[in-house]
Amino acid sequence: MYSCRVCNGPVREVIDLGRQPSANRFVLPDEVEGELFLRLAVGMCDDCTMVQLLEDMPQEVRYHDTYRYHASGSASHRKHFEQVARRFLEGELAKDDPFIVEIGCNDGVMLETIAQAGVRHLGVDPAKDVAALAAAKGVRVRTTFFDEPAAVEIRAEHGPADVIFGANTICHVSDQEALLRGVDALLSDDGIYAFEEPYLDTVVGRMAFDQVYDEHIYYFTARSVRAMAERFGFELVDVEELALHGGEVRYVLARPGRRQPTRAVAEMLARESALGLAEPARFERWAADVARVRTDLVELLGDIRAQGKTVVGYGSPAKTSTVTNYCGIGTELLPFVVDSTPAKQGRLVPGSHIPVRSPEAFTEAQPDYAVLFAWNHTEEIMAKEKEFRDRGGRWILYVPEVRVL
Ligand code: TMP
Ligand code: ZN
Repeated sequence: MYSCRVCNGPVREVIDLGRQPSANRFVLPDEVEGELFLRLAVGMCDDCTMVQLLEDMPQEVRYHDTYRYHASGSASHRKHFEQVARRFLEGELAKDDPFIVEIGCNDGVMLETIAQAGVRHLGVDPAKDVAALAAAKGVRVRTTFFDEPAAVEIRAEHGPADVIFGANTICHVSDQEALLRGVDALLSDDGIYAFEEPYLDTVVGRMAFDQVYDEHIYYFTARSVRAMAERFGFELVDVEELALHGGEVRYVLARPGRRQPTRAVAEMLARESALGLAEPARFERWAADVARVRTDLVELLGDIRAQGKTVVGYGSPAKTSTVTNYCGIGTELLPFVVDSTPAKQGRLVPGSHIPVRSPEAFTEAQPDYAVLFAWNHTEEIMAKEKEFRDRGGRWILYVPEVRVL
């Protein structure tokens, strides 16, 4: 039995996605030998209901100097984070000399707007190359992990933070207690700690099982976040559903008693119970549905090959690693994938070792089919690749089930 990272309660396994590499560690052909793997399995805590990975990679493996995920990679993300920044500027930061800290600022996609507004800010990110991209946009960055000592130093240097923000970062942190101690050390008395992360109902209810990978240690719900907040001296005061990454939730924590929790919190808690998001039977059904996607996808790719037709992959987010490794899809079924991120091109999808090429290779190859791994950008990509459809190309989607468009 595994024990809960948050409350030490017993964690019950709900799904096993097999032996998997670090999903953003795109390797060069000569680096294949040194790849590390884990058993990618998820469980739920019997006591606090936190859904979490059973095993994890060492942090140094997941985040390193050449972290290949760039948050600014899509127009919808850029737009979203500009709106996030504007809301802070008009809300929490509309005061005398405000200060905002972002944990995991990546390439500065959110803080860029804050910096342009001339507001005091600091991005904290351990990955040197993405932090350098942020700095090039005029964003102040500190290249380190966010923990209590770092938070104490930041407060000594800049004073308390009115807002501490994280997006697609907080669920990556194994030791949430240490993180919240850092937040406690840095946050002003009336400040908020807001984070936007993949939602368990998206992963389970909408079948986005490819959100499960080594970096996503937690799959939050309002219920599990509330329990965690209370355990470590905070209160969940607001929640909001977001369209990003197929469906995320923004959680807002404050010091206890400082803010009236919104109705949205109670509503989300009620809906989560109605959905059975803490019921073992719900996860059993999910695991069976996920296994069916694997069977159907492998069968479809096999049929395409048998018919002498061609298929490639479109987009190589970390999700591509989960799906190809879970399904056992290699170059014999999918000769290459294309991705617009230059840092991924010329490398291989971790574990499955499918080459990543630039989107031009897609246009040149004129495949009959394309598996849309970046399915959370369906609209943007289908608009961009209209020609593919026009000349008879067909998109393959596998969330929530395998289908050909
Ligand atoms: P993300 O949803 O995790 O940001 O990952 C999307 C991936 O898809 C990222 O590696 C960039 C890639 N991508 C393309 O290759 N073409 C596109 O048009 C878009 C929007 C994304
Ligand atoms: Zn627990």
